[in-house]
Amino acid sequence: PHLSGDGKIAVVHNGIIENYVELRDFLISNGYKFISDTDTEVVSQLVSFYYAECGNALEAVFRVLRRIEGAYALGILCVDEPEHFIAARKDAPLLIGYGEGSNYIASDVTAIIKHTRDVSYMEDGEVAVISADKVQFYNAMEQTIEKEHHTIDWDVSAAEKGGYAHFMLKEIMEQPRALRSALAPRLRDGLVDFGAELGSALPERLGSVVITACGSAYYAGCVGKLAIERLCRVPVTAELASELRYSDPLIGEDTLVIALSQSGETADTLAAVRECRSRGAKVLAIVNAEGSSLTKLADAVLYTRAGPEIAVASTKGYTTQVAVLTALAAELARRLGRLTEPELRELAAGLYRLPDAVQKAIDLNPGLPELARRYCLGGALYYIGRGTDRAVALEAALKMKEISYRHAEAYAAGELKHGTIALVEEGTSVVALCCRTELLGKMISSIEEVKARGAKVLAVAPAGERRILAAADDVITVPRTGPLLDPVAEIVPLQLLAYYAARELGCDIDKPKNLAKSVTVE
Ligand code: M6R
Repeated sequence: PHLSGDGKIAVVHNGIIENYVELRDFLISNGYKFISDTDTEVVSQLVSFYYAECGNALEAVFRVLRRIEGAYALGILCVDEPEHFIAARKDAPLLIGYGEGSNYIASDVTAIIKHTRDVSYMEDGEVAVISADKVQFYNAMEQTIEKEHHTIDWDVSAAEKGGYAHFMLKEIMEQPRALRSALAPRLRDGLVDFGAELGSALPERLGSVVITACGSAYYAGCVGKLAIERLCRVPVTAELASELRYSDPLIGEDTLVIALSQSGETADTLAAVRECRSRGAKVLAIVNAEGSSLTKLADAVLYTRAGPEIAVASTKGYTTQVAVLTALAAELARRLGRLTEPELRELAAGLYRLPDAVQKAIDLNPGLPELARRYCLGGALYYIGRGTDRAVALEAALKMKEISYRHAEAYAAGELKHGTIALVEEGTSVVALCCRTELLGKMISSIEEVKARGAKVLAVAPAGERRILAAADDVITVPRTGPLLDPVAEIVPLQLLAYYAARELGCDIDKPKNLAKSVTVE
């Protein structure tokens, strides 16, 4: 916590106070001295300034909130009022947990699940005064309000490692179960059926689809784009939320915007959604975290039901996003009349089989720790693929980068000869994703090109694909699940490859350096 100079006020803060320099100057001109350059210290000093004026911590906080700009989840304690503390929120996640004889604030439910499952989600502009046995809420007009209680329905063990060395490994292994819970409610009588879940999110005339997200969620969107375009024959673009919001996008009332986010709190994704809504678009959110900010902005929400994801690197968050997007593509195609019933049944059958296929993708590859040692510990790593394989390559490279700190890049295999092949030399590691059967010949040519320059090639291919066994140095085997579902089974061994590389390198796997689980600032 940051203390005010007089030691009376303590503040914890998640977010960024944008006008802190101006406020700091104001306080300095009033005789305040600072011991850090942080925006958070400005908040503690400003509360102290107003507390000196009015002698009431809540009133002082209200005055501070009228002056600060930016994003914040704040917890504020005043030494003269030890029986309670104050919380405030704007554009950063904050929830209240109700315990027995104790109440809590947290940015994420995983932090307090050991103590309580009874929570209220704070909204922008709201303030709460929390004591051991009571919580009083105020809205942005400073009027008292009542808040709804929500019960968190997952088990405490979901926020524990359960015998695994890391949350990431546990979450990788949980994927079959996570996929079952994501897909089961959307499969009925051998067909994909979202029932009333899409609510009012579909435009009357579907002109185009824009998928927006950040990081792994964006890469899930890249897979989803291919699935929706292929099944629905409507134009789909996948846009990074941080780019979309500043790109003056061509979005209107006939655009369906699909926003993907595990946390539902990613600042860039929220901002992109607000931008799209201001242009008249309908927004469908695909989210894991219940009660998160994105769920409140969207016209309808599809929960991925993956359970809490605690490791910074997304695994089950990503695969459940891809699975729900693919099921959504089938649902839209059915509504648009683009597929025959046998085609729809075949897709649904693939979705039913997906959790088992993911389990198989894990079981088929006990040699991954050794492959990680041979391919991933030195030099750069290139991931190549075409079509959906290319989209998966992007996610696979991100996994490797963020937890092992190895330099890993993904390229469309056909682009190699347009530049990147210049980087391939003796001993370079290339991971070639080869699940697109119709493009196998092309992938084999790319493998031969890089091998001719001295690269060692680790391929990912369907079981029994002899041509790949002959062309690559080593093969990670994945079960065949069909062109649209392969990405889900295909990424799983590559998540494990990154995990074992990071473990070998002694990295802090669950909390990689410089990264946060939810990126709640721009
Ligand atoms: O919570 P979100 O899905 O919105 O998060 C988006 C990205 O920050 C996230 O996927 C990030 O790239 C992960 N660290 C990837 O493993």
